[in-house]
Amino acid sequence: MSQDDRCASLAARVAAVVREDVRGMVAYPVADSEGFVKLDLMENPFSLPEDLRTELARRMSALAVNRYPAPRPARLLSAIRRAMQVPDSAQLLLGNGSDELISIIAWACARPGARVLSVAPSFVMYEASARLAGMDFTAVPLRADFSLDLEALLAAIREHAPQVIYLAYPNNPTGTLYPRADLESVLQAAPGIVVVDEAYQPFALDSFMSAAGRIDNLVVMRTVSKSGMAGARLGYLAAKPEWIEQFDKVRPPFNVNVFTQCYAEFVLEHQDVLDRQAAVLRTGRTELAHALAALPGVSVFPSAGNFLLFRIESSDPNAAQRVFEGLKQQKVLIKNLSRAHPLLANCLRVTVSFPEENAAFLAALTASLPGGPRAALIES
Ligand SMILES: Cc1ncc(COP(=O)(O)O)c(C=O)c1O
Repeated sequence: MSQDDRCASLAARVAAVVREDVRGMVAYPVADSEGFVKLDLMENPFSLPEDLRTELARRMSALAVNRYPAPRPARLLSAIRRAMQVPDSAQLLLGNGSDELISIIAWACARPGARVLSVAPSFVMYEASARLAGMDFTAVPLRADFSLDLEALLAAIREHAPQVIYLAYPNNPTGTLYPRADLESVLQAAPGIVVVDEAYQPFALDSFMSAAGRIDNLVVMRTVSKSGMAGARLGYLAAKPEWIEQFDKVRPPFNVNVFTQCYAEFVLEHQDVLDRQAAVLRTGRTELAHALAALPGVSVFPSAGNFLLFRIESSDPNAAQRVFEGLKQQKVLIKNLSRAHPLLANCLRVTVSFPEENAAFLAALTASLPGGPRAALIES
């Protein structure tokens, strides 16, 4: 058999085994960031103070790695309850990042004909997880200014009676913090659960956590990823025990490893450090938003997250792509969202970092804007 024949026969075998929709998918894209000022994924740029790192290393070295992790680690759960003021009436479920929790919800709710409803543009994993689990997915477009079209959303709820609704509060990638009363209307109208995804809560200063366990169909989802622990992979749900009990059945056993449990428990005992870091980033967000708004041909959208969405105002549909490339040439990595959704035409998203990195970004952006010193050097 020739090399070509072998390849063709393996391709046929893959086609016969793997689902057609999966073969048509593209893997979640993560850009190579080696050597870049990394402002693409809304990570927290700070590390822990030296004394805490030393103590943490001591604790981690004493871990019983020969044992499976506890499925319901009592000390970590109470650290989360304390640090995040989770009401006693709510139960918690831990996930390997909130990405895993989104998949768990889909697996648990994928009854025949079941549907997930969200808005667009929003976090891509709501749709991806729903479709993989065989659920239908509907997204109600946001308005052009990325505010919530409550009437359209309520109409979609009436039409589709979705099992699951996702609202990111604040939203990614737009940064919008919808009016609280709108979410309350959605909670009242929804026949199933409403997952309020509070991934960016440290920067929003508003939350539905105090209502978790009190409102029947409310599920509050959080992650530690935006608080300096993206590499640890830990998310959690807070909801009435009746929901958590069901979701827990489809959670992969031992999904949160011992290193993550130990790391997060320790860091959450020092919530004051995380709070100070978040406060610095909120101030940085305000300063960066002002600086962006002052640039010619740039409009910036209000954000309650640790990132800013901005648009390159141009009739050229590739203007943002060119600016993005210009930043990359200067070793600054942000996120190009121009093609992610029609409402995001010529939009880019930048993570707020510490002042030096924000300044590096602004300098690279200024140089790359249409008419800027580097613009002519950037290939279309
Ligand atoms: C709105 C939203 N929810 C959830 C996530 C996933 O978080 P995690 O790192 O916990 O999987 C993200 C990641 O960017 C996000 O933007």
